[in-house]
Amino acid sequence: MQKTAPVGVFDSGVGGLATLKALQKQLPHENFVFYGDNANAPYGTKQTELIRKLSFACTEFLLKKNCKSIVIACNTASSAAKEELRQVYDVPFVAMEPAIAPAGRARKDGLVLVMATPATLRQPLFVYRVKKCGLEGHVVAVPCPKLVELAERGAVLGEETYQAIEEALWPHRDKKVDAIVLGCTHFIHARKQIRQCADQIWPGVPLMDGNQGTAVQLERILNQYDMRNEQTDPGKVELCTSGDPDKYLPLFEKLMAQE
Ligand code: DGL
Repeated sequence: MQKTAPVGVFDSGVGGLATLKALQKQLPHENFVFYGDNANAPYGTKQTELIRKLSFACTEFLLKKNCKSIVIACNTASSAAKEELRQVYDVPFVAMEPAIAPAGRARKDGLVLVMATPATLRQPLFVYRVKKCGLEGHVVAVPCPKLVELAERGAVLGEETYQAIEEALWPHRDKKVDAIVLGCTHFIHARKQIRQCADQIWPGVPLMDGNQGTAVQLERILNQYDMRNEQTDPGKVELCTSGDPDKYLPLFEKLMAQE
């Protein structure tokens, strides 16, 4: 595989663009192909078998684009399909999962709130990670499928999104919360609003996401396989969707431009 080949990045939809931004920042000379499976989003309310099937289709798409490595920029697809994908394909995968370990380190005597999709929260991997981090009994799972739907509609900065966040967090207002995990890449686009809403209830509570860890992991993998792009020019990005390009590509551009 050529070092100049792109890195493939996929998600059920727009969420993975937040991860893509972190990857570009970490590895500015890499070329990327992003594939949003918007036609099949959301994944988080689907059965595990179907999420796997869709993750295989995303991988096939990126391999046809000659990608040298694949980032699964989706906590749901990662937890449902990463093992199966690794068994079938030779290309190195970088997977994402909710940032439970750092949240555990930030915890004092309170709880860790994990906002993620219903599918991520029901996976055995999630239960295993909670246990492994010694957080059993200290984690509150907060499924927020509505936030995914709003992000897919491009309504991520609107009032409706703030309301959806409030609906998810407000029922936990009487709990002592030491950290909130953004365990779905779609939610990262609404980070500012989540910050604002969380501050009303638990001022200054840390928000954790897996984007930076994923970017560092991709760098490590590319170094390990001696696959770093040595070009000195800035890398290029190709944005692709399984949905209607006229609808989604302008939304991709808008979200990429958003801070
Ligand atoms: N962005 C995805 C994640 O990180 C899933 C959103 C969905 O399709 O439900 O989990």
